[in-house]
Amino acid sequence: MGHRKLKKFAEVASFSNVFQTHLFPEDGIIFPLKGNWKTEYFKNDNPITLELGCGRGEYTVELARRYPKRNFIGMDIKGARLWKGAKQALADNLANVAFVRNRIDFVETYFDAKEVSEIWLPFPDPYPGKEQKRLFAPPFIKRYRNIASGNAIIHLKTDNHELYEYALEQVYANHYPLFCYSEDVYTDIKTLGQERFALLTEIQTYYEKLFLASGSKIHYVEFSI
Ligand SMILES: C[S@@+](CC[C@H](N)C(=O)[O-])C[C@H]1O[C@@H](n2cnc3c(N)ncnc32)[C@H](O)[C@@H]1O
Repeated sequence: MGHRKLKKFAEVASFSNVFQTHLFPEDGIIFPLKGNWKTEYFKNDNPITLELGCGRGEYTVELARRYPKRNFIGMDIKGARLWKGAKQALADNLANVAFVRNRIDFVETYFDAKEVSEIWLPFPDPYPGKEQKRLFAPPFIKRYRNIASGNAIIHLKTDNHELYEYALEQVYANHYPLFCYSEDVYTDIKTLGQERFALLTEIQTYYEKLFLASGSKIHYVEFSI
């Protein structure tokens, strides 16, 4: 492992806004903030938005800046990526930001029933041929249902057309309420409306910049589970 990555790993372990106790359901250990994020960490009663597979946490940090009356938590397995968002949030004194480092497969060990109000999935890995690993495949949706409030909204942003179509198929097959979808967010302000358009085009993730540079269209699906 490179020196810079090792340095980030060491640094991220010391950040007050990063939780990386690797818990698994079979451990039977209860994560102390599970069910208590608002009272014990954020010290407010504001709704919680999760960014799953957050990478460098661009959505977590920028949404936290734009919506100070909401709380934001990014989750990813890659510590050296989380480092960037966590460092930025600390530098900007964003008290409404936290990060969790573990596999999203274990999201229920960190959040209690109805604790989460909204989920962003920016550019999840498409996992061709491994449908069940996709972050909005049925096993993951089941996990999200166990931690989300009744009307929690999921925002999926992707460059991958197959993934976009798969998401819409899931929505239709399971009769999930569908609020909005777009094949090309950058040319679709009419469908998206001003607020969504701003969130989808003004906040660009690391991967999104790469996809845009290679000429990909950015797709979006917003639904409830
Ligand atoms: C294509 S990257 C996108 C990162 C970031 N959202 C962006 O747009 O730049 C996918 C991210 O999802 C994370 N990821 C994929 N499956 C995961 C899982 N089961 N648990 C935790 N993280 C996962 C990877 O570590 C990676 O950072």
